[in-house]
Amino acid sequence: MAGKIPQEFIDELLARVDIVDVIDGRVPLKKAGKDHKACCPFHEERTPSFTVSPDKQFYHCFGCGVHGTAISFLMEYEHMDFREAVENLAVRVGLEFPVETGAPEIKRQSLDLLTIVEEADQHFRLQLRKHPQAETAIRYLKARGVSGEIAAEFGIGYAPDGWHNLLDSLGTDLKRRQLFSTAGLLVKKEDGSYYDRFRNRIMFPIRDSRDRVVGFGGRVLGDEEPKYLNSPETPVFHKGAELYALSKARGAIKAQQLAVVVEGYMDVVSLAQFGIQNAVATLGTATTRAHLERLFRYCPEIIFCFDGDRAGRDAAWRALETTLAVLRDGRQVGFLFLPDGQDPDSVVRAEGATGFNERLQGAAPLPEYLLRHLSDQVDLTRLDGRARLIEQAKPLINQIPPGALRELLLDRLAELAQIQRTSLSALAANKPTAAAKTPPKANQPPMRQSLVRVALALLLQHPRLARIAGDVDALRALDSVPGVDLLAQVVHSVTEHPGLSTAALLERFRGTEHKKHLEKLSIWDHMIPEKHVETEFRATLTKLRARLRDQQTQVLLDKSRSEPLNDREKAQLRELLARGQA
Ligand code: GTP
Ligand code: MN
Repeated sequence: MAGKIPQEFIDELLARVDIVDVIDGRVPLKKAGKDHKACCPFHEERTPSFTVSPDKQFYHCFGCGVHGTAISFLMEYEHMDFREAVENLAVRVGLEFPVETGAPEIKRQSLDLLTIVEEADQHFRLQLRKHPQAETAIRYLKARGVSGEIAAEFGIGYAPDGWHNLLDSLGTDLKRRQLFSTAGLLVKKEDGSYYDRFRNRIMFPIRDSRDRVVGFGGRVLGDEEPKYLNSPETPVFHKGAELYALSKARGAIKAQQLAVVVEGYMDVVSLAQFGIQNAVATLGTATTRAHLERLFRYCPEIIFCFDGDRAGRDAAWRALETTLAVLRDGRQVGFLFLPDGQDPDSVVRAEGATGFNERLQGAAPLPEYLLRHLSDQVDLTRLDGRARLIEQAKPLINQIPPGALRELLLDRLAELAQIQRTSLSALAANKPTAAAKTPPKANQPPMRQSLVRVALALLLQHPRLARIAGDVDALRALDSVPGVDLLAQVVHSVTEHPGLSTAALLERFRGTEHKKHLEKLSIWDHMIPEKHVETEFRATLTKLRARLRDQQTQVLLDKSRSEPLNDREKAQLRELLARGQA
């Protein structure tokens, strides 16, 4: 079940947990100044570079670069998933774990819902065996080559035709009818009566990672529309987090160190029937980061297998875009495109497991697919075509966390674009080191990203600074400086929840695109001595505000060249210029 754990709960949890205790129980720590140290449990070393900071409630290895909160530590070290790690810590500090959104009412409802969905699952399976019209469903499955054995293994069921099959069998009182409706199995009409959502469909139960049925996908037996009907989002069913057949495929995924992601339920079922057990499917939605993180917990490699049609290619590119940010070194992603008109189901039936596996071997590694896709859209024999390639590739490659993979991609891009690798780096780099060594001076050439980085790093490492940040919302207008928006968000997080530690602050950004960046900044050695931290933070914000004034001044000056300014604008410009000189 992927119900969201309320942020307040995480805050409270991290306020009570001591990361030193959590880690010390597993990796004995020695006190070293303010921090604690040990030989890093995540890489081989003789001298300790693994550091745990009780102030930040954060760990960091200067040797291999791993870092994170108490929650991340359990996820990495004990291979727990996020929820398990939170549960574990909650037990440790005696916090009651919120099953759903924390409100007891909803918590009870989720348990009820799971029971209700389970009952529906039993019902659909029974119909496939006992219902007078089951013959049509069985004939359909046979015609598609689904064996009885595999149908039973996947718990495939049948929702007979008619508007009140499930309603009559299971919707015996109002409370139950309401629950079935919340579970998306009954639909409520305006007059208050109910009818079955799934009618005359083959039912594929969808299980969560704990192997509990949380929703269904239903396929028509003929050509009617829509071909597939899925359970709607419910308190226990989240399409952006669940993957079809994951609980079943998990063992094979771990054993083979590879997960295959396909588009259709039938694809997963057929692949399994032919002995390919490590396939899962998205639930008729795009691949999300949550999907990927989940799979990468079990294996280092994912191959996306998409239909060869236009929709499949679009889906593949979207999957690539989602994947970039989670591609740390050691993780691999490949893309397998099937011939137009084919899908994994038809391929495995025609070519067997051997044929399908051979195709998997030939999947395009992500770097190759990325560059090929972009190169196909430009003319590489022309200078402007190559410039365009760089333009398009840069922002994508920059989303990949720093590491060997990113460097290799940049090498290859330089080759394709026929540009010096060093010039490409200058175009592509945004390393956080520049500002650290030389805090920007007013008359230095602007290091646009550095100011925000310094401010963010100081703030993350000393959340109390939010107090003196002043009005940061105005800064959001500073459109020439990336990151001010994030800075404002972080300031707000601390202002609204005073007392957050660095770790608790970072946990608020888990699952967002900013997580990696913020983590890096929170351990970034900015070389500013503790006693100058406040002054430096103030100075940095002052500089950002000066930037904003420059920007506003420039806009007005530009405008004044093409049309006369009105009185308000003139007054504004005068004030800006006066303040700029002050
Ligand atoms: P068949 O082989 O025709 O049974 O289907 P498939 O598994 O090959 O599915 P297809 O490639 O057409 O679609 C892939 C997935 O997209 C399905 O498993 C569904 O999750 C989803 N999908 C397909 N058609 C629809 C639809 O009409 N509505 C919704 N909501 N989802 C659909
Ligand atoms: Mn198909």
